[in-house]
Amino acid sequence: MSKIMQVNKQKILIIGGGGREHAIGWKVTQSPRVGQIFFAPGNAGTADIGTNVPISATDISKLVEFAKKEKIDLTLAIPDDPLALGIVDEFQKAKLRIWGPTKVAAQLEWSKVFSKDFMRRHNLPTAEFEIFDNFKKAKEYVAKQSLPIVIKASGLALGKGVIICPTQEEANEALENILVKKVFGNSGNQVVIEEFMTGPEISIHAFSDGKNYKMFPPSQDHKKIGENDTGLNTGGMGTIAPLPFVSEVMMNKIEKEIVAPTLKTMRNDGIPFEGLLYPGLMLTKDGPKILEYNARFGDPETQTYMRLLDTDLLDIVDSCIDGTLEKLEIKWKSLSACTIVLASDGYPENYKKGEIILGIEEAEAQSDIIVFHAGTKLDDKSNLATNGGRVLGVSATGNTLKEALTKAYKAIEKISFEGMQFRRDIGKKNACPAVEIL
Ligand code: AMP
Ligand code: GLY
Repeated sequence: MSKIMQVNKQKILIIGGGGREHAIGWKVTQSPRVGQIFFAPGNAGTADIGTNVPISATDISKLVEFAKKEKIDLTLAIPDDPLALGIVDEFQKAKLRIWGPTKVAAQLEWSKVFSKDFMRRHNLPTAEFEIFDNFKKAKEYVAKQSLPIVIKASGLALGKGVIICPTQEEANEALENILVKKVFGNSGNQVVIEEFMTGPEISIHAFSDGKNYKMFPPSQDHKKIGENDTGLNTGGMGTIAPLPFVSEVMMNKIEKEIVAPTLKTMRNDGIPFEGLLYPGLMLTKDGPKILEYNARFGDPETQTYMRLLDTDLLDIVDSCIDGTLEKLEIKWKSLSACTIVLASDGYPENYKKGEIILGIEEAEAQSDIIVFHAGTKLDDKSNLATNGGRVLGVSATGNTLKEALTKAYKAIEKISFEGMQFRRDIGKKNACPAVEIL
């Protein structure tokens, strides 16, 4: 008999179809435990490393049916929408093994009213705020506040539900749009009106098994479409990790004042958070403050993180589900990484789909480059074509952030599609940091 231990090969289902899911799939394929890997719905990149299943990430009953039929061993619930719809609860009811927070735990993300109330109740650092469902009362409140003021629809609104209002008129218009005209539907039944904060924004990620957690290195997204953080908000145009300007002292403070108390109080409140907690923070002059909680991996943060993670992701996921995260040592490569998003012309507003994409192989032939797919598909003639706003994420690693960025931008020169746009300043102001934020 062979002395090599037989590893049980597992069937894995990854829910979602963006760059984040491609990066997670890329990492999962490196696990010796993976047999088959499915993506629902996936994209042209995930089709190269697994099997795409034509079921939408939000069609929970079809996903349950598929997981039962295919005898899926483990499902990774990644995007916000299925989590908000209770995919984890439905899979658990059907006795299917799934990783992610339950619907009530994911409320940290899908209800800003819940999350702001939670932060207030437990004295967690965040912007001052009030909640309204009445247009007149909301307007009266805004009239007494200093400007700019921030208005947020309570529910998920495809990243468009946060409006920063420099004037009273703009604030009133935002309130009317959300509360009266219902431009975000039921997501706008309530609004959070909050104080405007300033400072660098960073992304924090932590795995949690409900009792214990493990922090990632800090990362930073670039949310605006235009260079120097101008123009409209997007899903994210590029990320870097770790952050040269965030000290260990600051990370300890973030852990002690934000991550640990958030997870502990969720547990004490009877809704343990199992999955990935991603608080978006602003490093204000009064210390780190929570902009929002996400109950999932960030995108494109995850495309950068997966290049740095040295531990088998499936081991981490299993220990989260089994409540044994404390015992697992999670290793990160001592490298820097970045991801630059290549987007369609017009994004984040209207854009064309179906433009032919060239040069990915040439880009990936360069050292330390992986190109993750987001909005891509194979067209009728089997050409790789654009199929979304954010099309590709070009990721690179290097011994320094500067080296990683240089490699990524050099690789981008090989890639082309009609109307391709990207930011040339990702990580720029932080590649040679003048000051560390303590
Ligand atoms: P959110 O979806 O809550 O992360 O908000 C989207 C973006 O709006 C954030 O990345 C910030 O740039 C900005 N933002 C949200 N809340 C505030 C705030 N209270 N003060 C300043 N900017 C904010
Ligand atoms: N990086 C932005 C997000 O995932 O929400």
